[in-house]
Amino acid sequence: MLAARAAFVERPDADSISVPLGDDSLSVDAGGGWRVPNEVPAEIAAQLDLYVPYCLPHPGGLCVAHIGQSLDGRIATENGESRWVTGEADLLHCHRMRALADAVMVGARTVRADNPQLTVRHCAGRNPIRIIIDPDLSLSDRHSVFCDGTVLTVVVAAQEHANGRGEMHGSEVLGVPRVGRTLDVAAIRCALGERGVSIVFIEGGGITISRFLEAGCVDRLQITIAPIIIGSGRPGIVLEGVRPLDCALRPRIRRFNLGGDTLFDCEFDA
Ligand SMILES: NC(=O)c1ccc[n+]([C@@H]2O[C@H](COP(=O)([O-])OP(=O)(O)OC[C@H]3O[C@@H](n4cnc5c(N)ncnc54)[C@H](OP(=O)(O)O)[C@@H]3O)[C@@H](O)[C@H]2O)c1
Repeated sequence: MLAARAAFVERPDADSISVPLGDDSLSVDAGGGWRVPNEVPAEIAAQLDLYVPYCLPHPGGLCVAHIGQSLDGRIATENGESRWVTGEADLLHCHRMRALADAVMVGARTVRADNPQLTVRHCAGRNPIRIIIDPDLSLSDRHSVFCDGTVLTVVVAAQEHANGRGEMHGSEVLGVPRVGRTLDVAAIRCALGERGVSIVFIEGGGITISRFLEAGCVDRLQITIAPIIIGSGRPGIVLEGVRPLDCALRPRIRRFNLGGDTLFDCEFDA
């Protein structure tokens, strides 16, 4: 998959590319179709179905969000514990998505609760740059993303902070305008695109993903559901206001088994 993505990055106008797959070769069309000369095991075919769309050229960029939740829609307990809601297969999936992405993004509350590294460790691939949304530069310097030195971290904050010192704990601050109580999500996406970020992978939490979804800035939403009921705790997707049923979002869905969990890969219209 990494080779396929690299081939399309190198030749974005190609109708199809071909890369090695074990002793065989894998051909991928720009439209998303794939072929191998010999039959592959069902498990490999399912992985190709899942990941090929993320290897294709995306001229306007691609924003992919992922959340792991319980059957009752919780992403963490009331006190913020979320390791682990979903199982090992979903963890591996997230690392694969990081490896395919140019940037991985999380909100400030996830950094505070989990102190994540946001690097690629469970599979092959290079680390994406790390984007932290922290509108008022509230995070301390003890978090891994500021002190492990593995890969660039960029903090997205309100414009006035970038106009000031423009850095936080040695990381660049990218300023964007505020829109009411939130930062302008479309401006964040646009600023990342201008920096050459084509695929951004938003790994949570629920607030961050919900704001991107509300602004129509999520192209693909991956929801992995673990067969557990937590009963209380932090919610996944929460959109503003009281919404009638006929306003429900109805993305196209693909379903994949991830160990004992189920991944719903949701595609929204451009
Ligand atoms: N199960 C999973 O897949 C998963 C994944 C990630 C995290 N988690 C868990 O989820 C919890 C954290 O998630 P969460 O939903 O509470 O918070 P979150 O999304 O991690 O962070 C939200 C905070 O980020 C900032 N932010 C994000 N988008 C913004 C925007 N557009 N404009 C302005 N500020 C923005 C705000 O900071 P300010 O508050 O400073 O304004 C906001 O309060 C933790 O317990 C973590 O362990 C679970």
